[in-house]
Amino acid sequence: MQQRREFLRAFGALSAAVAAPSFAGSSAGEAFDAAVADKPWLRAFKGVSDATQDLRCEALTLTGDWPAALRGRFYRNGPALFERGGQRYHHWFDGDGMVQQFSFNGTSVRHVGRLVRTAKLRAEQQAGRFLYSAFGTAIRSDAPAQGPDTFNTANTNAIEHAGRVLAMWEGGSAYALDPKDLATQGPVTWQDGLQQLPFSAHPKVDAGGQLWNIGTSGQRLIAWHIDPQGRLVDAQLGESPYPGGMVHDMAATTQYLVIPLPPVKLDFGRIAAGGTPEQAYAFDSREPLRILVLRKDDITQRRVFELPAQMVFHVGNAFERADGCIALSFVGASDHRSLVQSAVALVAGRPGPQRVSSTQLAVLDLASGRASVESLGDAVEFPRIDPRRIGLPARYLLNAAQWKPQPAGRGSLFHGITLRDLQTGREDRFDYGEQTVVEEHILVPKPGRADELDAWVLGTSFDAKRQLTQVSVFDARRIADGPLAQATLPYALPLGFHGNFTPAAS
Ligand SMILES: [Fe+2]
Repeated sequence: MQQRREFLRAFGALSAAVAAPSFAGSSAGEAFDAAVADKPWLRAFKGVSDATQDLRCEALTLTGDWPAALRGRFYRNGPALFERGGQRYHHWFDGDGMVQQFSFNGTSVRHVGRLVRTAKLRAEQQAGRFLYSAFGTAIRSDAPAQGPDTFNTANTNAIEHAGRVLAMWEGGSAYALDPKDLATQGPVTWQDGLQQLPFSAHPKVDAGGQLWNIGTSGQRLIAWHIDPQGRLVDAQLGESPYPGGMVHDMAATTQYLVIPLPPVKLDFGRIAAGGTPEQAYAFDSREPLRILVLRKDDITQRRVFELPAQMVFHVGNAFERADGCIALSFVGASDHRSLVQSAVALVAGRPGPQRVSSTQLAVLDLASGRASVESLGDAVEFPRIDPRRIGLPARYLLNAAQWKPQPAGRGSLFHGITLRDLQTGREDRFDYGEQTVVEEHILVPKPGRADELDAWVLGTSFDAKRQLTQVSVFDARRIADGPLAQATLPYALPLGFHGNFTPAAS
């Protein structure tokens, strides 16, 4: 309990720093519209303008041969509301979260999109303006902060687990939504006394439904274990070996949590004082990329591996090899430009620098403490694997990708997807074309089948020419053939981050 009090005190200090009244200017929607007039692929970064408006379409337009056996709910989440009261956020991560739900019944596709009614959203809706500083934008306000959830936008990932949808952010509670209609139920407190502890946006759910997650702030770290019924098994408190860093994603093997700690320091106080993300978030290339390995059953038993400095957002997978090493795949970049430049430029209607992140395959030797890494030299992000193989050996890695020179201004956006065979190195890929912005795609196993390639590939994309969002479904064995079918919305969705699929009960 003493540990928990210290943890919350650390969060209190952080919250106070973020809430310090200050002002860093604003950019209104008109400026955004002018900036994207000749860049249709950036318009989806404008976001939604009316916080009370839900999006609904009972029957998307289907083309191709939609698989009758693909039944269930496909969720996505991402920042959606960027403007209030003439003020526009400066960073992609700042927007209030909107969860998208695509429901497949075998013959039709229905869509519902709803902003998560967080405490922040409701307070700002009532005020008619932003009240709280965000990841990359200072807001002048004297509205009191009452812990991390004061700033919680619930905008990063969505997963259905134990009968409710969890809309997750990095620094505070998961928000629960009703799968029936995406009505916000409220922040999740896994156990009395654990209110507002951070529950990061990339939990890993193993084949048995056990959910593992982490949360960090300052030097504090928490490891969550939730059972398939949504009950807390354990919340272990510990410390990070790199305080003040950014911890975004993790892997969970049979015995370990594997957490990349890139050498990025986040100074939220600098943002609150009017600094830019480039000033507030520093990348120290003299520091290593640390990989923290914690025993799931006792996180005080830990190892820290060191690799050359890299920026990391996302993990593909990790598993324990027979030789006592952990194999880890992740996407790494030489620096944090995507965090402090691309993510700023995109919401201002500018393209940002060319994408540079690549698949990295690391080996962590638990016996010797040594680590090595190989870069595959591709240009990818949003790595995903067969969800049944999380923490186990997985042969195939799916990514959004770039492999063609892009038209001027498309910089950091993806035009295709690639499924890489990690045994042979071969890639099966599909190019959506230069009119389309490709978002994260996921692997969905076919019912009753076990092979990794007995799966569909499912994902969203933004057709910039028609200004519409589409859902595409591929056969994982024949990605280059193009989508088996597509479902097209009559509107565009804000470009999002991550999502997951829940099969219908059979
Ligand atoms: Fe992420």
